[in-house]
Amino acid sequence: QKKQCVVSFAKMAELVPTLPLETRCPPFPLRQHGGFWQPETTLRRGVPAVHALFAPRSTDVLLASYPKSGTTWLKALAFATVHRAVHPPSADDHPLRRRNPHDCVPFLEIGFALAHDTDAVAAKLEALPSPRVLATHMPFSLLPDRLLTARVVYVCREPKDALVSSWLFTRKASENLGVDAESFPLQEALELFCEGRSSGGPQWRHVVEYWEASRPRSTGGEQVLFLRYEEMLRDTVGSVKTMAEFMGCAFSQEEEERGVVGAIVELCSLEKLKKVEVNRNGRIGSGVRGDAFFRKGVAGDWSSHMTPEMGKMVDQAVDDELRATGSGF
Ligand code: A3P
Repeated sequence: QKKQCVVSFAKMAELVPTLPLETRCPPFPLRQHGGFWQPETTLRRGVPAVHALFAPRSTDVLLASYPKSGTTWLKALAFATVHRAVHPPSADDHPLRRRNPHDCVPFLEIGFALAHDTDAVAAKLEALPSPRVLATHMPFSLLPDRLLTARVVYVCREPKDALVSSWLFTRKASENLGVDAESFPLQEALELFCEGRSSGGPQWRHVVEYWEASRPRSTGGEQVLFLRYEEMLRDTVGSVKTMAEFMGCAFSQEEEERGVVGAIVELCSLEKLKKVEVNRNGRIGSGVRGDAFFRKGVAGDWSSHMTPEMGKMVDQAVDDELRATGSGF
């Protein structure tokens, strides 16, 4: 059963300074609430704003993930699929050829957390035409109940790859935050990850909550589509078709014959997105370097950075914790 952990700005402002604090994970201090570690500002401003100011619509598509699990790719694929009538994927002026996927699909709690004026963020979200494609790193149990009318697409990634991707991203993306992520060794990131002390962590609990919500017995199987990054790499066309059907915009026979699915897959491929000017030399709206979001995009790259012993340590910790959830995941 989903528990409601967040009530109001006032309550969170009072509560956050009293919550357990973790300062060893750059770039932001984390606080633990409702069983999860999250950036302090996300908890203090972002999460309560999503509860208080955001008005969900039943037509919304919400893309959810633990960080560094394929969110950027999922955003690009979902945006291109949902808006293909207005923005044909082969069009030269497609938004994804000019803008980073994170500037096409806003994160709910991060947008609110970073803004000076949260009402302005709410108004901007309200002004988006339906169907809106939105995103979150919030755990399932921290989502407002009202949001559960949306269709939620979750992407899960192999934990060692998510950890290494996150460690490398932090080093690259933190340079303009005045944070010394260079001196954050992978071994320390790994130990903290295994204790569940990472942004959005414990990773396994994040995954299990959405996985359980995706199972027919808990929600009718309609509300959460659970995808795996590795499966998306293996069969991108099949994954996009599954997503389209779930999001209520299945591809017609005629579209398939015209190669629309293939055009979306190509538009959103790592190679194509890497070449977009803003993703090479620019910054996204929040100020992070565009190129920080695109690296190798493969399964198993953890082994280029971790020793087999380090890998075993993560596997062991995650397996033990998953078993303890009793979820069968
Ligand atoms: P690596 O660092 O392992 O290469 P997120 O988008 O959640 O931040 O996850 C980032 C990971 O997704 C990075 O993994 C990145 O390279 C990969 N990625 C980004 N765009 C992608 C794309 N179009 N196709 C496949 N993987 C992509």
